[in-house]
This record gives sequence, structure tokens and C-alpha cells, in this order.
Amino acid sequence: MSTPHGTSDPSGEAAQRHLQAAAHRHLWLHFTRMSSYAESDMPVIVRGSGQYVYDDRGKRYLDGLSGLFVSQIGHGRREVAEAGARQASELAYFPLWSYAHPRAVELAERLAALAPGDLNRAFFTTSGSEAVESAWKLAKQYFKTIGQPSRYKVLSRDIAYHGTSMGALAITGLPGIKEPFEPMAPGGVRVPNTNFYRAPGFVADDLESFGRWAADEIERAIEREGPESVAAVFLEPVQNSGGCFPPPPGYFARVREICDRHGVLLVSDEVICAFGRLGYYFGSQRYGYQPDIITFAKGVTSGYSPLGGMMVSDALMEPFGSGREDISGFESPRRAGHAQGGGPSGTATFLHGVTFAGHPVSAAVALANLDVFEKEDLLANVRGNEGAFRATLEKLTDLPIVGDVRGDGYFYGIELVKDKATKETFSDEESEWLLRGFLSPALFEAGLICRADDRGDPVIQLAPPLTCTQEHFTEIEQILRAVLTEAWSQL
Ligand SMILES: Cc1ncc(COP(=O)(O)O)c(C=O)c1O
Repeated sequence: MSTPHGTSDPSGEAAQRHLQAAAHRHLWLHFTRMSSYAESDMPVIVRGSGQYVYDDRGKRYLDGLSGLFVSQIGHGRREVAEAGARQASELAYFPLWSYAHPRAVELAERLAALAPGDLNRAFFTTSGSEAVESAWKLAKQYFKTIGQPSRYKVLSRDIAYHGTSMGALAITGLPGIKEPFEPMAPGGVRVPNTNFYRAPGFVADDLESFGRWAADEIERAIEREGPESVAAVFLEPVQNSGGCFPPPPGYFARVREICDRHGVLLVSDEVICAFGRLGYYFGSQRYGYQPDIITFAKGVTSGYSPLGGMMVSDALMEPFGSGREDISGFESPRRAGHAQGGGPSGTATFLHGVTFAGHPVSAAVALANLDVFEKEDLLANVRGNEGAFRATLEKLTDLPIVGDVRGDGYFYGIELVKDKATKETFSDEESEWLLRGFLSPALFEAGLICRADDRGDPVIQLAPPLTCTQEHFTEIEQILRAVLTEAWSQL
């Protein structure tokens, strides 16, 4: 190998040193305390293959988080990379402002066929934050267009993460990452999440009662705020932040009823939960509810190129015109109330867009990614193996530090506690040492990429590629067992 200065460096050590020096001098990592690397190297991941990635020293890691909930089909898929390269040489870029291009059309059609119910319209973005931002903007403009201009507020759940751009941040329910950017865009309202492990005492014994209470809290918030001021409720099928809170039985059916009763839109934020993470193309399909909008990103391309977007119902699209195909006779009974009292239908323009939305290369990659889903029946792999994944992780509950294992599909959170009997959690200082001081480096050192997170109570999060099977679950369990046992002995 040649160094940056051209001399021979067979071991690559000089190149590694140069990369580290340049990274320390010029690269700014996201959500990272850069000073923590003052005395140490930054991890550098150079390639991936299947369920594994490799660092610049050739060391292998099991990618237990699919990068960042992204790499559904795993790494190193030549056919997906080649689909992107072919598209770049045919048409690298053209905007979706006033023009269409074939891959965006094909992808929109394909997503409409996969999405639940009448979510037949795709509005593309480049990221999840932009998708969430777009959904809120659409909700606001939709209500203005149909003559309900006072509806602008959005409800979302405590500790939920919905992105970092200023609009998405106002929907995000994590005070710690919002505080430096206050004041927020007005309208964000918090409701309880579905963390049954920490349910209030009066519903702690019964999951269904807990779910009913959590859904009814949404109705109480709508009534408190004034239904005429509320535009939308943003919910993930399984809430990620806090460590995987699945919905209790009946929760989403009740939320749907509440939204309909008050004319509020239900936005399913599936930036993580779509594209197989829960064994279905869309997370809402797993739990049997019909959203008005689904936001997505991440797994739509498995990360071979960036893309996000939202799937929008025919009824919501109605004031904005339906294109040439005549669907004007269509009106969802559910949305019928919304369409009354508005201005002329079908004439409004959604005043929103971004340059790289639905990028041709990303759209081509997304189509190739979906081909892999079909060819290898990845949804069946998740549904067939999720029980084994759960059972393997649940073995860890014999450790004194493991309080709860929760999740669905290939998406799990493991809550760490100081005292299992009382569910006592760690103090801020203990949590800081446990997660950042010990677990994050130790798990990485042991060859497992996952996330040790304390945005809520301390948890380890797992979301491996959808191609994983028992051998990978076993590897994850063995690494976690060794590292968590060591952590407990040092506490
Ligand atoms: C549920 C949810 N919404 C939105 C986002 C923001 O997506 P992005 O990081 O692509 O902007 C995320 C990111 O993890 C997410 O998990």
C-alpha cells in the first residue's frame, strides 16, 4: 500500500495514522463527545460483508444494530451497489420539482402496492427527519386547505425520537437533546409512552388496561389542548428510544378511534419499523392499524444510498389534486369529515421540497433492495426466527443486571437495572460509567456493534440485519453475557 506521501507501507500503519490524525483534526462525529477521543483512536469501519463489518485493522464485528437500524439486507450486496452505479451513469440526478424520473415513479408505485390501505402516494425526502418534518408540514397545510386553519399541534410520546431538524425536534420527546435549541417550533405536546416495565402502579398488573390508559391519555391531551388545535399524533409502531416499547394489545385500535373522533391525523413514524424490522413491510401492518401517513427512511435502501419519504392517503392528497388518473370519486369514509368545509378541492400545491429527494440513484437502489427482500423472503426469515431471537436474548434474564428484555421482530431492548426485585435503576453517575465508561467500549472490543443508551433508563439496543439466524443470535448472547457479567462485577 502506498502512504499519503507515496512511500511503501505494507502494513498500512502509516495510512491508518494519517486517517486518525485527519479524523481528529477535521471530522465531527454526530451526537459524539469529541473530547472522549482526545487520547484514543476513533473506530474506523472500512468494509462490510453480510452481517459483519470490519475495521481498518481487519477486526470483525457482528453488526447488531444494522449500522443505525439501516442495513436490513446486510452488507456488501453487489447487485444493489451495481443498480446504483447503473443509474448514476444513465441519469445521476434530476429533481422531483415539476419533473418525474422513471425510478422514482417505479418506486412510488411499488411502495403504494406494499403500503397498507389507501396510502397510495409517495412523497420522497432524503432522510427520516425530513420525512417527519414533511408529514407535519403536510398536516398543517392540509388543514389550512380544507378550512381548519387552527389545527397545527402534534402529539408524540415521552422519550420518543423523531429526528433532529427543528420541526422534527419539536416532535421528539427527549428534553436533553432539545434544551440547547430552545425555543422549539410551537405545537409539540407530550403523552405517555408504552413502557409497561415502568407502568404506573394502577395499571402495572394488566397490559391491556395499561394500553387503554396510555391511549386514553392521548384523548385527554387532545381535549386539554382543544381538538380544533390538534393536527396529528406521531407514533412509532414500536418506540425505539427508551429501549423498544411495543404497543399493548388494543392500543393502536383505540388510538385510531380517538384520532377519528377528533379529526386528528395518525402518523406512523416507521423510520425504523418499516422494511422488515418487525417482519412486515410496514410496522403498522404487524399491529393491524391504518395510518393516514407513514414516514420511512433507513431500511428502504438498506443504506446503499440515502432516501426517506412518506406514504400519504388518497384522502389527504385530495385537496392537492390526484394527477391524471381519475380517483375523484374516492373518499375514505374515515376521512369524510375532513373534506367538508374546505376550499375547491384538487387545486392546492404542497409548498415543500428538497433538492435530493427521491434521488435517482437512491430510488434505483431502493428497488434493488426490495428485489432482495422478495428473492430471499426476508420477511419470512424475520417472522420465522424472531421467536428464537427473543428466546436467546431472554436467557440473559438470569443475570442480575438484566431487568427486562422487550421488543418484536428483529428489534429488541434490554433494560439494565441495579436491583431486579425493585426495578431500581442506576444513578446518573453510575449510568455514565456503565454505558459510556464500560459497556460501549467493552462490547465493541468484544466484537459486537450495538447501542448502550440512557436517553430513558439504561438499555442495550439490538436491531441486526434481517438475514441473521440462530448462529448470530447465539454470538450476540454470548458476547452480551460475558460483557454484562464483567460490568456487574465492577459496579
Ligand atoms: C423514528 C425515527 N424518526 C425519525 C428519525 C430521523 O431520521 P434521520 O436520522 O434519517 O433524520 C429517526 C432516526 O433514527 C427515527 O428513529
